[in-house]
Amino acid sequence: MNNNQSSVTNFILLGFSLSQEIRLFLFIFFTVIYSLTISSNLLIITLVTTQRSLHKPMYFFIGNFSFLEIWYTSVTVPRMLNDLGTGNKTISPIGCISQFYFLFFLGATQHFLLTIMAYDRYLAICHPLHYTNIMSAPFCRKLASGSWLAGCLSISLPAVMMSKLVFCGPNTIDHFFCDFSPLLRLSCTDTWLNEIIFSVVAWIVILGCFFFTFLSYVAVVITILKIPSSLGRQKAFSTCVSHIAVVGIFFGTVIFMYIRPKAKNSSPVDKVVSVFYSVVVPLLNPMIYSLRNKEMKDALWSVLKKFRK
Ligand SMILES: *[C@@H]1O[C@H](CO)[C@@H](O)[C@H](O)[C@H]1NC(C)=O
Ligand SMILES: *[C@@H]1O[C@H](CO)[C@@H](O)[C@H](O)[C@H]1NC(C)=O
Repeated sequence: MNNNQSSVTNFILLGFSLSQEIRLFLFIFFTVIYSLTISSNLLIITLVTTQRSLHKPMYFFIGNFSFLEIWYTSVTVPRMLNDLGTGNKTISPIGCISQFYFLFFLGATQHFLLTIMAYDRYLAICHPLHYTNIMSAPFCRKLASGSWLAGCLSISLPAVMMSKLVFCGPNTIDHFFCDFSPLLRLSCTDTWLNEIIFSVVAWIVILGCFFFTFLSYVAVVITILKIPSSLGRQKAFSTCVSHIAVVGIFFGTVIFMYIRPKAKNSSPVDKVVSVFYSVVVPLLNPMIYSLRNKEMKDALWSVLKKFRK
């Protein structure tokens, strides 16, 4: 490490260059979305942990996914609100690297959890006789903690390498959080090894998880289509449609962002897609799961009825 080189003491997160009025509007808009995200995900966690009817593997994973979404959206949104509200866009190098680390640690964990949720649906629908034997409570807990651990480990090498980079200016990051490419562009050390390792990890995690998730849902859909009664088919489909919707939105945006040739400069489209997956998707998920799911809605009604008494 050459610490002698003059290194920047702070980064500036450029975010969106916008007029005062639009900034105020975005501040209010993102505050509302963020509050809704936190409260709806907390509601799901509460329902899933307190309602006996939801003590099933699928809801355990949905609850854990909600728990993850709360952390995930909190890595970027409060910081962005601070920028929009105060206009102070400075972030320390340590702050920036930590944001990068947590963003991708939790992002990778999302992939692993979604894959496990797909595997859970696959077992439940394609192998219903063995399902309860395999998906025991301890095994579910192991799978959940396994995804958190794998998420944490998979990003540690790219993050350590990122922290070794020297930044000697300019120090403006053309983004609203410390994403990989915008940060890398500012380094004055050679970054090819960082790029290769990050790309390999991203490809393995994203495409590997996508592959297994895709296979599971293909098997699920084939099995459902073979169910003779149309009522049974409908019932099986309705639990899976929400999962497939979440998976589709999620992998669609992530593959767009991280699996494609690197552009030299970030485009405004990147920022909009980033807003989508860091701000909007964490709110969309609880909506999709809870609005489409009968058992979840029933559990919510029974809680509300208790409150009315
Ligand atoms: C902006 O925030 C940083 C800490 O995040 C602080 O050190 C700096 O003084 C602030 N700048 C202004 C102009 O308030
Ligand atoms: C989700 O799983 C992780 C790892 O096993 C655990 O630490 C966390 O408490 C779980 N959260 C919920 C709400 O189930």
